[in-house]
Amino acid sequence: TQNLTEISRVRNIDLIQLGKFNIVPWYFSPYPESLTHQDLVYICEFCLGYYAGSEQFLSHRNKCTLRHPPGNEIYRDGEISFFEIDGRRQLTYCRNLCLLAKLFLDHKTVYYDVDPFLFYCMTQNDEYGCHLVGYFSKEKESAEGYNVACILTLPQYQRKGYGKLLIAFSYELSRREQKLGSPEKPLSDLGLLSYRAYWQETIAGLLINGHVGASVEDLAHAAAMTPTDVVNTLQHLNMLRAVKTGHVIVLTKAVREQYEKQKEVERVKGKRAIDPTKLQWKP
Ligand code: ACO
Ligand code: ZN
Repeated sequence: TQNLTEISRVRNIDLIQLGKFNIVPWYFSPYPESLTHQDLVYICEFCLGYYAGSEQFLSHRNKCTLRHPPGNEIYRDGEISFFEIDGRRQLTYCRNLCLLAKLFLDHKTVYYDVDPFLFYCMTQNDEYGCHLVGYFSKEKESAEGYNVACILTLPQYQRKGYGKLLIAFSYELSRREQKLGSPEKPLSDLGLLSYRAYWQETIAGLLINGHVGASVEDLAHAAAMTPTDVVNTLQHLNMLRAVKTGHVIVLTKAVREQYEKQKEVERVKGKRAIDPTKLQWKP
C-alpha cells in the first residue's frame, strides 16, 4: 500500500488554463481520471468548474453567469475584494476550489468534506469581473484555535504581497472575534517563510510605533496572535533577553533598520495593506 500511496501522489495534470493564465501544477490533485490524460485542463475562472476539451469549455463559458465567487462580499478596497463562502451552502464551488488549491498544496487533505469550513476568497476586480487571486479556509469551530486551515496565492500572483494581505485579513477576523489566532500546522516551506515575514513585520511595527515596553501578552492581543507565535518571533529576531526576573523584550537596531527598509520598499512598490474600516463583517 505504501507504493500505491506514493504513485497516487505523482503530479497528474500537466497544465491548466485559468482565465488568461496557463499554469503548470506543482502537485497531485484528485480531479477525475478522465482529465488526467489531457494536455490542457480548462478551468472556469469564476465557478472553478473543470473541462477536458476546449469545446465543452466554450459551451460552459457561454452559459456560466458567475463573475465573482459566490457568497458575501465582506471587504472592498479599490480593486481588491474578499468574499466569504460557506462550505455547506456552496458545496460545488468549495470542492472545486479545494481541487484547484491542491495542485499547489502538498499536505492538504480536505476535498469533499468542505461543510465545516468557511472560505475567504480574495479577488482583483476589473470590468470583466472579480478574478480569484488567492484564498484561505477556516474551520467554523477550531478546537485548537486555528484561524487559517489552508492558505494559497495562485502562482501567477505570488511574491507580490498578496499572501501578506491574506494573512493580515485572517488576523483581522480573529481580532473581530476577540480571539488570538494561529495557522494550522504543519506549515509548508512557503507558508513558514510568509508567516515569519508577517509576524516579524507586525511585532517590529508594534514595538516601533507606540508599544514601547509592551509584554508578550500585550503584543499578542494587539496583533491577535498567540503568545507562542509572539515568543517564537521574538526569539527568531533575537529580541528576548534573559534577566533575573525572567525575560525582557529588546528592540534591536538591526530589527528597527530592517523594518524601516521593508516599509520603504513597500512604499516604493505601492504594496497594499488591509484597511480594517473596510471590513463589513461580524463574527
Ligand atoms: N522565497 C522566499 N521568501 C518568500 C517566498 C519565496 N518563494 N514566498 C514568500 N516569501 C516571504 C517573503 O519574505 C515575502 O516578502 P517579500 O516578497 O517582501 O520578500 C513574504 O513571504 C510575503 O510574500 P507574499 O508575496 O505576500 O506571499 P505570496 O502571495 O507569494 O503567498 C503563500 C505566500 C500563500 C505561502 C504562497 O507561497 C503559496 O500559495 N504557496 C503554495 C501553497 C502553500 O504552501 N501555502 C501555505 C501552506 S501552510 C497553511 O496552509 C497553513
Ligand atoms: Zn463557470
